[in-house]
Amino acid sequence: MENFKQLCYDNKVILAPMVRINTLPMRLLALDYGADIVYTEELIDHRLIKCSRHVNDTLQSIDFIDKSNATVVFRTCSREKLHVVLQIGTSDPERAAKAAQVVEQDVAGIDINMGCPKDFSLKGGMGAALLSCPDKACTILSAVVSAVSIPVTCKIRVLPDINDTIELCKKLATTGIAAIAVHGRTVKERPNHPNRNHFIKAISEALDIPVIANGGSKEIETFEDITKFKNITGCSSVMIARTAEKNCSIFKRDGKLELGTIIRDYLHHAVDYDNVAPNTKYCIQNMLRNIQETEQGRHFLESTSLQQICDLWDVGDYCREKTKTMNCLRFEERDIACN
Ligand code: FNR
Repeated sequence: MENFKQLCYDNKVILAPMVRINTLPMRLLALDYGADIVYTEELIDHRLIKCSRHVNDTLQSIDFIDKSNATVVFRTCSREKLHVVLQIGTSDPERAAKAAQVVEQDVAGIDINMGCPKDFSLKGGMGAALLSCPDKACTILSAVVSAVSIPVTCKIRVLPDINDTIELCKKLATTGIAAIAVHGRTVKERPNHPNRNHFIKAISEALDIPVIANGGSKEIETFEDITKFKNITGCSSVMIARTAEKNCSIFKRDGKLELGTIIRDYLHHAVDYDNVAPNTKYCIQNMLRNIQETEQGRHFLESTSLQQICDLWDVGDYCREKTKTMNCLRFEERDIACN
């Protein structure tokens, strides 16, 4: 019975992990538009381990809070429970296992980031640093697989040599992971370099577990392009980052929506889950890009609160009403706690 409920990584269209972008509102938006699985942004094991789990009755969410600075490190809700994969940044098997256990009951899967090329990750022995320490990478994966009862995956970048990459993937697959996501660029390559789709194809042919193709955003403009990317890479599942960051409705089978509708849909989720204004603004900025030059764009750049942002996209009344209701609920909760 337990296995029946486990997340399956075959034939899926997936929102790829993106720092700051993939907070709860964006993940819910991707699910609304048709994504099957949504990854969180990378969360570092040290931060997760410090968190305590809090059921937020006002928002109907589960919050993982770092009490030392009262910040919500990870917010989730029942709507995404069977679809959300939490990505951990780690360099240590024990810490990775503990971090995975902190969130295990509230997510569908755990992913280990083995592809991040940023200095912060590399210096800490995390992300792509693990690609050059395959034994350590395997120890981390084995530790997490043993520690939790939900599926575990990892996301890698390719190595410069195709055969070395296949060997690495085969080794990682022996740890009991449920799938492996492959970004077809090396650590040194930047987004404008061509994605090595033939590497991904060779890996998917060599492995028995699902391989998730990633790195195709430059060629993905429509839903049909997702199918093309699937065919070129020989994978049954595809993971999309930059195209979804700009236009999350890429997941819609029946065609993309115009930006105003996407932003309004996004803002409804941001209001429902009290997403902080700076994060909301950042995500919208990444959708608007150069359209920020318009009058509305200029007002947007000056906005500092969720209410101000919502007012610009005709979601102002919804935000005001919802905020009122939430404040009432918070007072009620406080009263109950005091009595
Ligand atoms: C990323 N990427 C990324 N990868 C990862 O494993 N963990 C992360 O937290 C992030 N964060 C992140 C933020 C932003 C803004 C971008 C654009 C990308 C990499 C991403 O998941 C993906 O591997 C690459 O962008 C290639 O896929 P696309 O963009 O071609 O679909």
